[in-house]
Amino acid sequence: MSIETINRLESEVRGYVRNFPCVFTHARGARMIDEDGREYIDFFAGAGVMNYGHNHPHLKRALLDYLSEDRIVHSLDMATEAKARFLERFEEVILKPRGLEYKVQFPGPTGTNAVEAALKLARKVTGRERVISFTNAFHGMTLGSLAVTGNSFKRAGAGVPLSHVSMVPFDGYLEEGKDQSLALLDMLLSDEGSGVDKPAAAIIETVQAEGGVNVARMEWLKELAAVLKRHDVLLIVDDIQVGCGRTGSFFSFEEAGIKPDIVCLSKSLSGFGLPLAVTLIRPELDQWAPGEHNGTFRGHNPAFVTATAALDFWADDSLQRDTGRKSELVKRRLEALVRRLPVQAQVRGRGLIQGIEFADTEIASECSKEAFARGLIVETAGVDDQVLKLLPPLMIPDEDLEAGLKILEEAVVAAAGRSKPDRKVA
Ligand SMILES: Cc1ncc(COP(=O)(O)O)c(C=O)c1O
Repeated sequence: MSIETINRLESEVRGYVRNFPCVFTHARGARMIDEDGREYIDFFAGAGVMNYGHNHPHLKRALLDYLSEDRIVHSLDMATEAKARFLERFEEVILKPRGLEYKVQFPGPTGTNAVEAALKLARKVTGRERVISFTNAFHGMTLGSLAVTGNSFKRAGAGVPLSHVSMVPFDGYLEEGKDQSLALLDMLLSDEGSGVDKPAAAIIETVQAEGGVNVARMEWLKELAAVLKRHDVLLIVDDIQVGCGRTGSFFSFEEAGIKPDIVCLSKSLSGFGLPLAVTLIRPELDQWAPGEHNGTFRGHNPAFVTATAALDFWADDSLQRDTGRKSELVKRRLEALVRRLPVQAQVRGRGLIQGIEFADTEIASECSKEAFARGLIVETAGVDDQVLKLLPPLMIPDEDLEAGLKILEEAVVAAAGRSKPDRKVA
């Protein structure tokens, strides 16, 4: 096997293979192994897909048992036992204990499908066109999702106008102490003379992951929900990357005490890396006509099986507590690291999504390269790739977390030591 084959035959659009240039063959827990047998600690976790680690034995067993009995793999959106089990368990373990009532739509296999369905439904139900999104948002690559995404490089790929969206500053985007974005939004929506058409919905990530690990404060999220409710505008939370326990609780918005009208989940939902996405809909809003939004791969049965097994991890609060413990440890280590760097850098994050933002925008990518050379997979985020983003599996064993942090510290010190004072500063 050769990476040359991939470089020769796969489209130029390929991305991560350029940053991590090796051929991976195996993965277990928080480790990935390449064709030469070299092991890497995974602080990337498939961009939040592998919250429970690679090939978790409980999920693998459920999948192998299911397949060995010739159960249904593909069924469009016909009724299957695997789907019914997933829905029952999701209601029992996730929705009911949180006092949440949602209808579940399977919009297509991946995150952007969940976002497209959410946007379409919000527009249909309200009869309004405009959607509010936030600076540095990332919601996916299909046209509707791209229209609510901030990154200009990604937006340019659309080749057509991306319209019917208004961008509002995310929490912390404006200068500290002068952040009046929600007050302004409230005012514009209240004023008949503002010229602002009433939007259908606002779509938000509570932690902007791709956008640079930007964390919205709980009181800001509460205020946003209140402003939207006051103006009868729907709240869509895109929990695709930071849901399924990434911030500690199953949904990232739980701590804020808000109940979104629509929620998008994907990535770690199947728990095993199999494609699965849902759009959760407040029951009164479920105004779809049968088949109005469809697709061939809506509810992949093997993914239902592993997703149902993964819900066992949420039967008690032990995973949430363990994520809290690990996130405190990571935060402490990163803060100590940043204090001894010769460059300007800042730590931020929530739960087990943590980032270091560097003023010299080239450092984060160099850290990622240095880390990879030392056996750690860690990615960058932000419009200039200025943030080193840590996203280890939630179930990473303590020894691997420790070993990964050690490599990370060495890599960051090496890369920051080479920073040149005349480089671009964000
Ligand atoms: C918050 C968020 N929304 C949507 C998406 C799009 O998901 P997908 O790449 O599965 O279409 C992503 C992907 O990274 C994401 O992080």
